[in-house]
Amino acid sequence: MPTTVVGVIARAKGEPVETVDVVVPDPGPGEVTVTVQACGVCHTDLHYREGGINDDFPFLLGHEAAGVVESVGDGVTTVEPGDFVVLNWRAVCGDCRACRRGEPWYCFSTHNAAQPMTLADGTPLSPALGIGAFVETTLVHAGQCTKVDPQARPAAVGLLGCGVMAGLGAAINTAGVRRGQSVAVIGCGGVGTAAVVGSALAGAGTIVAVDVDDRKLDSARGLGATHTVNSREQDPVEAIQAVTGGYGADVVIDAVGRPETWRQAFYARDLAGTVVLVGVPTPDMRIPDLPLIDVFGRGGALKSSWYGDCLPSRDFPMLVDLYRQGRLDLDAFVSEEIGLGDVEAAFEKMHRGDVLRSVVIL
Ligand SMILES: NC(=O)c1ccc[n+]([C@@H]2O[C@H](COP(=O)([O-])OP(=O)(O)OC[C@H]3O[C@@H](n4cnc5c(N)ncnc54)[C@H](O)[C@@H]3O)[C@@H](O)[C@H]2O)c1
Ligand SMILES: [Zn+2]
Ligand SMILES: [Zn+2]
Repeated sequence: MPTTVVGVIARAKGEPVETVDVVVPDPGPGEVTVTVQACGVCHTDLHYREGGINDDFPFLLGHEAAGVVESVGDGVTTVEPGDFVVLNWRAVCGDCRACRRGEPWYCFSTHNAAQPMTLADGTPLSPALGIGAFVETTLVHAGQCTKVDPQARPAAVGLLGCGVMAGLGAAINTAGVRRGQSVAVIGCGGVGTAAVVGSALAGAGTIVAVDVDDRKLDSARGLGATHTVNSREQDPVEAIQAVTGGYGADVVIDAVGRPETWRQAFYARDLAGTVVLVGVPTPDMRIPDLPLIDVFGRGGALKSSWYGDCLPSRDFPMLVDLYRQGRLDLDAFVSEEIGLGDVEAAFEKMHRGDVLRSVVIL
């Protein structure tokens, strides 16, 4: 029997989100229903609401979640009812050309639930990043569920489901930060701060946090940044060069995703260094007038980071273990715990820069 639960949707571009009834079908083959316990508010949810991802309204928002498997459909062998799981939005297929060549984190054919969740009138919902977790129960593909240590706090480890994994992975997986390297991170919200933490975990020597908000710089310093730059007050390229012997950083991570921040990242990097774009630009954004000779002459690598190039089955349990051992402070990302009715207010707090993460507790 389909169940009716409460969830948060974006019905139209730019309109405030609404708390409505959501109909969740029984899991079909390969599908799973999950009782959501906690779900972080990510900037990507706001991008959906603003029409910056696509126009497939209405969206069921929320995608950084942890919960407990409620029921499983035919053929599901990887999880069973009662398992504590972190949801992921890249359930790898195992069979596409990326998976077959041994690079499943690039999987080009990731899995989502086949059946739609709907409004009470039958209107299908587009789940944010194929998850949709600002809802009491959600329907996902079994591969979107990764079992982790059930002793872990749902609000903290649910954040591995998106922004914190993206930032950690941008540093550890995409950039491959090594001991002693210099790293600069532009934009220290949830994603950028996680990139700072990931750089520290990987042993970076110098970690420069750049933001336009001093509160973000303070929290980044508390989590491993060795230097901070307010780019409203100081030119970030010059400031990063100044603390790296005049050269620029080995790795610069753009966790904002705007032409001006990517350009800063490009020029704040040492010769043969690496730029990682983990912030998500909108389709209209352009990099005008970048001299091609600078791309060639500066060498190195210009990379993007989808979901921190993570492999959930490898990375989530490992990171939860580090968290449980006190070596990865995921609690520091949970600025506040809120209810389902508070998502719109959380967007405003995120917009004002008041929080790293607001986390909906169900
Ligand atoms: N690549 C991925 O897989 C992935 C996953 C999750 C989120 N994201 C994207 O990462 C980006 C950041 O997400 P978030 O949740 O951390 O957002 P957030 O709103 O929490 O943080 C953004 C931060 O950037 C700062 N900022 C804004 N403009 C700036 C500028 N010009 N220079 C320096 N700092 C500036 C803000 O003060 C804020 O601290 C978003 O674009 C989001 O969509 C990407
Ligand atoms: Zn694949
Ligand atoms: Zn996200």
